[in-house]
Amino acid sequence: MDSFELNKIFGAVLGTLLLVMGLSIVSEIIFSPAKPAIPGYDLPGAPEASAAGAGAAAPAAEPIAVRLAKADVGRGEKAVAKCKACHDFTQGGPNKVGPNLYETVNRAVATHAGFNYSAGMKAKGGNWDYAHLDEFLENPRKSVPGTIMAFAGVPKPDERADIILYMRSLAGSPAELPAAEAAK
Ligand code: HEC
Repeated sequence: MDSFELNKIFGAVLGTLLLVMGLSIVSEIIFSPAKPAIPGYDLPGAPEASAAGAGAAAPAAEPIAVRLAKADVGRGEKAVAKCKACHDFTQGGPNKVGPNLYETVNRAVATHAGFNYSAGMKAKGGNWDYAHLDEFLENPRKSVPGTIMAFAGVPKPDERADIILYMRSLAGSPAELPAAEAAK
């Protein structure tokens, strides 16, 4: 192989390289990818979902009568574990930090024997009917200003219904349930 032939081979290789480089430059010009303003991928459906979520945000809680109709005593019994630091739920049981809660549904507010209620609770008046219990358990301090019940509340509407249904069962003769249809 003489040097002339070697030159031809080098020339061919160089020519090919130049051609490939040229092609890639040209193709980049033709198919130049548009850079997004914000790096990242658009997740399909995400904007729609958030739009729908905003529309349906925080649906108003169903009336307590409707929630009671699908509440569950067993779930309520479990849920009141968080009340038991302060409340005894048994018949004839003691007052603890808070009053005994046996037979509370429809009992007059702040009337359990031997418990020293706050002025705010004594001023509330009325009975612990379903609606009052629901409102009180959602946010005790908002419902009864000045209450000494140091408890943040039960934010989940269905959990409150479970608790109230359980409390209703703690009675010699449980209070009548409201008609779910009438409440709608
Ligand atoms: C940190 C202690 C504490 C916890 C936890 C607590 N309570 Fe109370 N509760 C109290 C006190 C204290 C009172 C008396 C409030 C007053 O006089 O202002 C009270 C009062 C009440 C009353 C009014 C009773 C009456 O005789 O008028 C109800 C009903 C009640 N609590 C239900 C509950 C339920 C249900 C839970 C759990 C979901 C709960 N509480 C959790 C301390 C507590």
